[in-house]
Amino acid sequence: MTNFDSITGPARELLRRDTAWPFLVPRRRSPDVSKNVILYLESLNVSFDGFKALNDLTLYVNDGELRCLIGANGAGKTTLMDVITGKTPCDSGSAWFGQNIDLLAHDEAEIAQLGIGRKFQKPTVFEAHTVFHNLELSLQGSKGVWSALTARLSRSERDRIDEVLNIIGLEKSRYQLAGSLSHGQKQWLEIGMLLAAEPRLLLVDEPVAGMTAEETERTAELLTSLAGKHTVIVVEHDMEFVRSIARTVTVLHQGSVLAEGTMDQVQNNREVIEVYLGEEA
Ligand SMILES: Nc1ncnc2c1ncn2[C@@H]1O[C@H](COP(=O)(O)OP(=O)(O)O)[C@@H](O)[C@H]1O
Ligand SMILES: [Mg+2]
Repeated sequence: MTNFDSITGPARELLRRDTAWPFLVPRRRSPDVSKNVILYLESLNVSFDGFKALNDLTLYVNDGELRCLIGANGAGKTTLMDVITGKTPCDSGSAWFGQNIDLLAHDEAEIAQLGIGRKFQKPTVFEAHTVFHNLELSLQGSKGVWSALTARLSRSERDRIDEVLNIIGLEKSRYQLAGSLSHGQKQWLEIGMLLAAEPRLLLVDEPVAGMTAEETERTAELLTSLAGKHTVIVVEHDMEFVRSIARTVTVLHQGSVLAEGTMDQVQNNREVIEVYLGEEA
């Protein structure tokens, strides 16, 4: 009989990890982005007691894009994220992840497994754990039952955590308790926890609220660097920040898309000036 301990190197890794048990680990379905679009939202309607939070909303997002979503309070931004992530059902319309995955046919947990990560406004890191352990936990949370039971990290998981620490700029804080990080660093760690699972689409709600000017600038760099490999949708009120990262901006108003284009285009759009930017001026 083969003694497991006598097997070394990659073979041992193969036996110990998921790869040896493909039947136990559900393979993630990939969105079909052959038309370059990763998110198709068409004629979405959501009402709360007769109030239309989303009103015939149609929106497309390209694969690898960094899209900013702006709009006054109550415009429907959070509701839209709730629909994409399966938290809120909609009355009618369709939502597809690539051409092949019907998001409305999946629940919240399944949608997360499909590779759609969401960052809420308030950071929810495990304060009593180190930065490294937070990332380790998020990696394990994203895997199958078998993986969660095998405690040790594989080489590739360790590499992934190092990679993420590098992306979020917290390499030097890896053994620091998350509770001792600054507000901005906690936000980055939480983005890192989502990145550990290698999401295709990241939804980020008001990432720079409460950050210092320097942290805001670094967050802009971070989110910009994620685009391409990931598709990122950012909801943000800080217009200067939006200007610093945006390629395409979508303006929501009363549950519908009011305007879409570059920051300059939407800022010069008459309707946008009237209903939203005008309010601030
Ligand atoms: N669960 C809910 N029940 C009732 N009304 C809601 C609920 N969620 C959102 N709304 C309403 O829907 C509208 C859109 O809200 P929301 O999507 O949170 O806007 P935004 O994020 O753009 O500020 C608001 O008028 C809000 O009061
Ligand atoms: Mg909101």
